[in-house]
Amino acid sequence: MDEAHSAPKVLVTGGAGYIGSHTVLELLGAGYRVMVLDNLSNSNAESLRRVAELSGKPAPLVVGDIRDQSLVRDLLAREQIQAVLHFAGLKAVGESVEQPLSYYDNNVGGTTALLECLAEAGVRAMVFSSSATVYGDPRHVPIPVDAPIAPANPYGQTKAMIEQILADLVHSDPRWAVAILRYFNPVGAHPSGRIGEDPRGIPNNLMPYVSQVAVGRLAELAVFGGDYPTLDGTGVRDYIHVVDLARGHVAALARVLARPGAFTVNLGTGRGYSVLEITRAFEGASGRQVPYRIVGRRPGDIAQCYADASLALQLLDWQAELGLEAMCADTWRWQSDNPQGYRETS
Ligand code: NAD
Ligand code: UD1
Repeated sequence: MDEAHSAPKVLVTGGAGYIGSHTVLELLGAGYRVMVLDNLSNSNAESLRRVAELSGKPAPLVVGDIRDQSLVRDLLAREQIQAVLHFAGLKAVGESVEQPLSYYDNNVGGTTALLECLAEAGVRAMVFSSSATVYGDPRHVPIPVDAPIAPANPYGQTKAMIEQILADLVHSDPRWAVAILRYFNPVGAHPSGRIGEDPRGIPNNLMPYVSQVAVGRLAELAVFGGDYPTLDGTGVRDYIHVVDLARGHVAALARVLARPGAFTVNLGTGRGYSVLEITRAFEGASGRQVPYRIVGRRPGDIAQCYADASLALQLLDWQAELGLEAMCADTWRWQSDNPQGYRETS
C-alpha cells in the first residue's frame, strides 16, 4: 500500500498488549496508519516504542479506557479513523471465575460503549478478537467454525456475548462490516526478539511458563494431566505463531474495508501438539532443559482442541505459515533477551 497521507488510518484498542503490538507492527508494514487506545492495565508502553523502532514509523498511543466514552468520542472526532481492530479486554479464565463482574464490565460493557461511539461517528468497520474458548469442550476436532457455541467460564461467555452483539448490530444496519476472529493458542514473538508476551506474575499459559522454566525464573513445569485420551496422555492444542495471527488481522481488515457484512473465522494452524511435544521442541530450540512433573488435571481443561481453519483460507486467502520450531525459537529469543520482559528497560 502507498505510504501517502491517504493511507487508511485504523484504531487499535488494546494495541500495547501481546497480540495487539504484533498486529500494529504488521499493519504499519502493510502501509496503514495506526492509533492505539490502551489503558495499560495489562501492558507496557515500551512495546509500542519498540514497534515504532522496528517499523521506522510512528505507533502513537492514547492512554485511556474503551469505557470512557468522552475520551473515545474526542479521539474519533480528531482522527479520521476508518476501522477498529478491537483487542482491548481481560483474558484470564481463572480470574473471570473469581471476578465475573469485572469481565462483563470490561469486555461486554467496554465493547458496547465503544460501538456506541463508533456508530455515532459513522465508523462501521471492526475486526474483533474472539477465542476458541467459545466452543467449550468440542464434540469433534478439528473444530469447524459452525460448531456449537458453549463457553465454560465467564471469560468465554463475554466473547460469545460480544459475537452476538456484533451479529445483531450488522443485522440492524447492513452498512457495518465485522470480522470475528476466533484465535486458537497464540504463542511466539517477533523474530527480532524485541517484542513478545510479557505476562504479569506467574504465567497461566503453557508456552510462557515453559520459557520461564528454561530461562531459570521458574523451577519446573507442572504438566496438568497425563491421562487424557491423546497420543501421550497430555493435552493437545493448536498453537499459532503470533506473527501469523497478526497477518490474519491484516487480511481480515482488508476485507472489512472492502465490503460490508459479517463473517467469522478460526485462526489456527489446524494441527495439534501435546504438552510434552511442546516441552521437547522448546528444549531443542533453547538448548536448555525443561524439567517437568505430571500432576492432576487442571479443572475446566479439555483433552484436545485444534482448528478447522479452511474458511480463513477461503475468505481471507490466509493460512498459518510458521511451524513449531519458529514458535519455540522466537519465544526463546524474546525470553532470553528480555528475561524480565519490558520491565528492565528504563
Ligand atoms: P493482552 O492483555 O496482552 O492485551 C489486551 C490489552 O488490552 C492490554 O494491553 C490491556 O492493557 C488492554 N485493555 C484491557 N482492558 C482495557 C480497557 N477497558 N480499555 C483499554 N484497554 C484495555 O492480551 P492479548 O493476549 O494480546 O489478547 C488480545 C485480545 O485477544 C483479548 O481480547 C483476548 O481476549 C483475545 N484472545 C487472546 C488469546 C490469547 O491466548 N492471548 C486467545 C484468544 C483471544
Ligand atoms: C487457555 C484458556 C483459554 C484461552 C487459551 C488461549 C483455560 C482453562 N483456558 O486455554 O480460554 O483461550 O488459554 O490463551 O485457562 N498446561 C500445563 N501446565 C501449565 C500450563 C498449561 O500442563 O503450567 C497445559 C494445559 O493443561 C493444556 C495446555 O498446556 O493442555 C495448554 O494450556 P494453556 O496455554 O493454558 O491454554 P488452554 O488450556 O488451551
